[in-house]
Amino acid sequence: MDRLFIFDTTLRDGEQVPGCQLNTVEKIQVAKALETLGVDVIEAGFPISSPGDFNSVVEISKAVTWPTICALTRGVQKDIDVAAEALKYAKNKRIHTGIGTSEFHIKHKFNSNQDEILERAVAAVKHAKKYVEDVEFYCEDAGRTDNVYLARVVEAVIKAGATVVNIPDTTGYCLPWQYGEKIKFLMDNVKGVHNAVISTHCHNDLGMATANTISGVLNGARQVEVTMNGIGERAGNTSLEEIAMILKCHKSMEIETQINTQKIYSTSRLVSGLMNMPVQANKAIVGRNAFAHSSGIHQDGVLKNRESYEIMDPTDVGIDKNSIVLTARSGRAALKHRLSVLGVDVEGEHLDKIYEEFLKLADKKKDINDDDVLVLAGKERAEKQRIQLDFLQVTSGVGVKAVASIGLKIAGEKFEAAASGNGPVDAAIKALKKIIDRAMTLQEFTIQAINKGSDDVGKVHMQVEHDGIVYYGFGANTDIVAASVEAYINAINQFVK
Ligand code: KIV
Ligand code: ZN
Repeated sequence: MDRLFIFDTTLRDGEQVPGCQLNTVEKIQVAKALETLGVDVIEAGFPISSPGDFNSVVEISKAVTWPTICALTRGVQKDIDVAAEALKYAKNKRIHTGIGTSEFHIKHKFNSNQDEILERAVAAVKHAKKYVEDVEFYCEDAGRTDNVYLARVVEAVIKAGATVVNIPDTTGYCLPWQYGEKIKFLMDNVKGVHNAVISTHCHNDLGMATANTISGVLNGARQVEVTMNGIGERAGNTSLEEIAMILKCHKSMEIETQINTQKIYSTSRLVSGLMNMPVQANKAIVGRNAFAHSSGIHQDGVLKNRESYEIMDPTDVGIDKNSIVLTARSGRAALKHRLSVLGVDVEGEHLDKIYEEFLKLADKKKDINDDDVLVLAGKERAEKQRIQLDFLQVTSGVGVKAVASIGLKIAGEKFEAAASGNGPVDAAIKALKKIIDRAMTLQEFTIQAINKGSDDVGKVHMQVEHDGIVYYGFGANTDIVAASVEAYINAINQFVK
């Protein structure tokens, strides 16, 4: 078996999704979950980009023990100096530097030429080498870079000391066979290529990120750059869970990772919950429907023999269909255990608080599922928000106009307003906008009730646009109008500071 290194960039490329930013405490929680999952490298941030990113790299470096902590830079000395400083507490550290190598980048972004870019690439690696042994170099837009020039750059940076060379398909343009050929070309034509690890970094603009990554691996790449749930800019990055399970299902490839696949589900839920980024229901491996058989023929086949229609056992990814359902009679210990299975470790007062909320919910709802438990764990975050929902009263029905009155607490001060609207959610949001007078438009609005019972907690995801940026908001409540308003407020809290 050949070993494939998993480089997780959920906290860097993944976190670049507008509205999905995490604070340092949340990033540490994700980094620890990634460590338990078994990733080899955690790209913790882009330290020069903001003090928040810098601080997150510092704190993750302190919190994580064995994965390598990586910091991104441009091929610029100042960026590299700052990254080295941010990494000072990391037990194993890597600087990830690079520059655009396609004609689009060389001419239009840098107004430069191939020779000059090559010199800058080598200088960046040499500068990073002054601080760390492990230096990764990325050839941005390698997907659209001429292979002969790409090989020159790869050869030069390896000679300068790069330990890993990343070949990003930055725009998600390549076809799987083209990307595979590119990697093969480098493996065949770069002198000294075996002195470094070649890495894939594929974006999903045409839905081919996973296929391209696998094609790269089949042609010699031994590191893959991935994110949990495939999150990332635009259509996202290659998803970690897909690569891990492809290799587990296709043993004939003779390539293995050290991912503990049974931790996939909990890590996926943690990232989705903290980032307010819903996982699409039909997402491979971690989507709600990934193991749900609804057609009669399939159900019959699975009951006779699971393998008739399932290529993976749900328990292999940590989905425990027989997990204990929590009810009003469940104790603190059961709740704590369920939370820890889902990747959230809580103790003492924090646990007491979640347990109190749990009992309130169990009064309204018979069975408490994993999604409910994660929502309860995240409630404390909502309580710390600057704008909070104080009360909401709505009258609506058939043949009457919906009317809502709302009370908000903004930094502790109370405000009230009322409005009528085209339905209860519209009325409530119009009332809210009378208090918060900002230009903002609701772009997407999804309500989910996961269980079949009418007592289920409604989960609302919203996207609200403000000043050209889209912010994600999440709300959960047994009252779906209240959940909708909570989601709207959650989104607003991200731009009203
Ligand atoms: O997609 C890309 O090219 C990147 C690099 C900065 C590594 O994310
Ligand atoms: Zn990227």
